[in-house]
Amino acid sequence: MKLDKYYTGETAKVNLDGKDYELPILIGEEGEKAIDISALRSQSGYITLDYGYMNTGSCASAITYLDGENSVLNYRGYSIDELADKCIFVEVAYLLIHGCLPTEAELANFQDMMRRYALLHEDMVHFFDRFPPGSPPMSILSSMVNSLCVFYPEMVNNPMEKIDKMAARIISKVRTIAAFSYRKAMGHQLVYPRHDYSYCANFLNMMFDSPVEPYEVNPVVVSALNKLLILHGDHEQNCSTSTVRMVGSAHVNLYASISAGISALWGPLHGGANQAVIEMLQRIHRSRGNYRTFIDKAKDPKDPFRLVGFGHRVYKSHDPRCTIIKNACNDVLKALNVKDPLLDIARELEEVALNDDYFKERNLYPNVDFYSGIIYKAIGIPSDMFTVMFAVGRLPGWIAHWKEMRNDKNYRIGRPRQIYVGPTTRRLSPIGARGVCNCENI
Ligand code: SDX
Repeated sequence: MKLDKYYTGETAKVNLDGKDYELPILIGEEGEKAIDISALRSQSGYITLDYGYMNTGSCASAITYLDGENSVLNYRGYSIDELADKCIFVEVAYLLIHGCLPTEAELANFQDMMRRYALLHEDMVHFFDRFPPGSPPMSILSSMVNSLCVFYPEMVNNPMEKIDKMAARIISKVRTIAAFSYRKAMGHQLVYPRHDYSYCANFLNMMFDSPVEPYEVNPVVVSALNKLLILHGDHEQNCSTSTVRMVGSAHVNLYASISAGISALWGPLHGGANQAVIEMLQRIHRSRGNYRTFIDKAKDPKDPFRLVGFGHRVYKSHDPRCTIIKNACNDVLKALNVKDPLLDIARELEEVALNDDYFKERNLYPNVDFYSGIIYKAIGIPSDMFTVMFAVGRLPGWIAHWKEMRNDKNYRIGRPRQIYVGPTTRRLSPIGARGVCNCENI
């Protein structure tokens, strides 16, 4: 990653302990401004402190651009609206990983690799028999993805030469792992991938086909699933992508780095929110639509409850993905002839919250997770699989960032600094002379 042309020649001036320091300024392709503090500690002895990295950039990246103030989301310069409207997921996966949209021949070759790598090693299939009933699907997904490096070690040893094959292999196999974990949870026999089905049609067939009633692939559902997976494709340095980069920066292989990203995505503050939204809407439905109680709880600073699916670290206006998903809800539910009261509750909840001062003052809008579960539910995917679907969509983004990080000459192992606030040097006393510890009260 060559950054020279982004340095403006201007500097930020800071005076520390009576001495002036000048820190170089960079401006990115879309006008984002940054101060390069990489020499701050060596020059001044100072570090910066920034919980949650709210103001701190970890890298330069050419993959995705977000403008949270103006609801802009672009993958490699293409707007999310156009990609979601005109492309299929595998095409956008190729774009994220390679930087350009594929030609017909490149797409055909990538799809052929998806077909070739769709099966799991049969020894891996037996793992599913050993997970206890009720095992969280995200735990199964993270474990199975990590074990890919046991079954495909040749990919692990020369990663950068075989990144295309590794990418196709994991994108294809994660779909099979997700479907197989659902079938096992339901006590159904496994349905194997078919070479004559597209990526999304194959997933739906592996999930829902039955020996007594063959599953009919509905093109409206396939189109909605492509759209949902595209919308989850990448999102700059979010928690799970930063985790993939952090773990990968220690030169951990792609599969284990992604397994760590899956664990980060599992959190209810991150990808786990789509499942929590449906559970919240169901609670409101059971309380006869009394969403006012939930709004009041969300506003109460003493109550840890948050209006799940609302708010975002970057978007301080509407999340463009949410708008696309909300509109797709109508098409899918109509095409499937599904009436879901949760959609009406979601719309009313959004309407009330967006007109409430608490949410307006904090720029809290519905995010990508607010409506996505309604479509997954209409397709027949259970709520404990919603975050797995998020992971299937986010996979190309994680791969693209891992690859970009490994190819970036500026990159080094991630190792943040800290400010120490613990006890200063203490003398060791013999165990008989030790009093009650009050360290937790620091
Ligand atoms: C994803 O980073 C990404 O790009 C993530 C993602 C991706 O594609 O990778 O977009 C996917 O993770 C979407 C977010 C899904 N999570 C949720 O829907 C959970 C509910 N939302 C929140 O917990 C929260 O909004 C976060 C975690 C999303 C963002 O948290 P921040 O940026 O740290 O904001 P904050 O916690 O500092 O909140 C600022 C204020 C606080 O109030 P005050 O202390 O100023 O009085 O807003 C309040 C918060 O209490 N607030 C909420 C709220 N979200 C923030 N209050 C009620 N309900 C909420 N949902």
